[in-house]
Amino acid sequence: MTAFVALLCFLLTLNQSLSLVNASVMETCKTIAASNPNINYNFCIATLSADPRSALADTQGLAIIATKLIKANATSTELTISNLLKKTTDNATSQCLSDCSSMYSGLVDTLNDAISAITSKHYLDANSDLSAAIDVSITCETGFAELKVKSPLTKENDDSRKLSTLALAITVLLK
Ligand SMILES: *[C@@H]1O[C@H](CO)[C@@H](O)[C@H](O)[C@H]1NC(C)=O
Ligand SMILES: *[C@@H]1O[C@H](CO)[C@@H](O)[C@H](O)[C@H]1NC(C)=O
Repeated sequence: MTAFVALLCFLLTLNQSLSLVNASVMETCKTIAASNPNINYNFCIATLSADPRSALADTQGLAIIATKLIKANATSTELTISNLLKKTTDNATSQCLSDCSSMYSGLVDTLNDAISAITSKHYLDANSDLSAAIDVSITCETGFAELKVKSPLTKENDDSRKLSTLALAITVLLK
């Protein structure tokens, strides 16, 4: 039974790694990684390919997919923060967590705006929304450093920053 499950997992992994990465995803990732030192090509491919809709998407579609991924991340981070707030006894940490909580809930609204802006081809608006998204991850993380407490959100902020940087880089390609 265990061997069977192991085999099944192996086959599934094999199937995933063999599945074709869409040409548009590869092209887009190659373009943005070449011109932007903050974009990792493999992260770009892995992130976009995780959504099956990327297989049929053009650049505009990829920008929307990337932005929705930030939103999924931000929504999950909001939940993480509210759970941390219930447990935290340190005032400074609580203060920072509350600040981050409002920033991340504002971010969800900003990302909804970004998705509408990309959909309606208002790309400059989308660019500024996505720049604001990058700022949230940095400002939240910096808050802990300023109050000299350890950030319990380093991973969340890193993920959000990487995804926002990716979405912005794709949106900048749109004309
Ligand atoms: C958030 O983004 C990171 C980096 O792409 C990913 O590994 C993680 O699974 C995402 N989390 C959620 C809840 O979407
Ligand atoms: C922490 O917050 C509580 C309630 O707001 C306050 O009474 C207490 O003085 C604060 N402690 C520190 C060390 O700031």
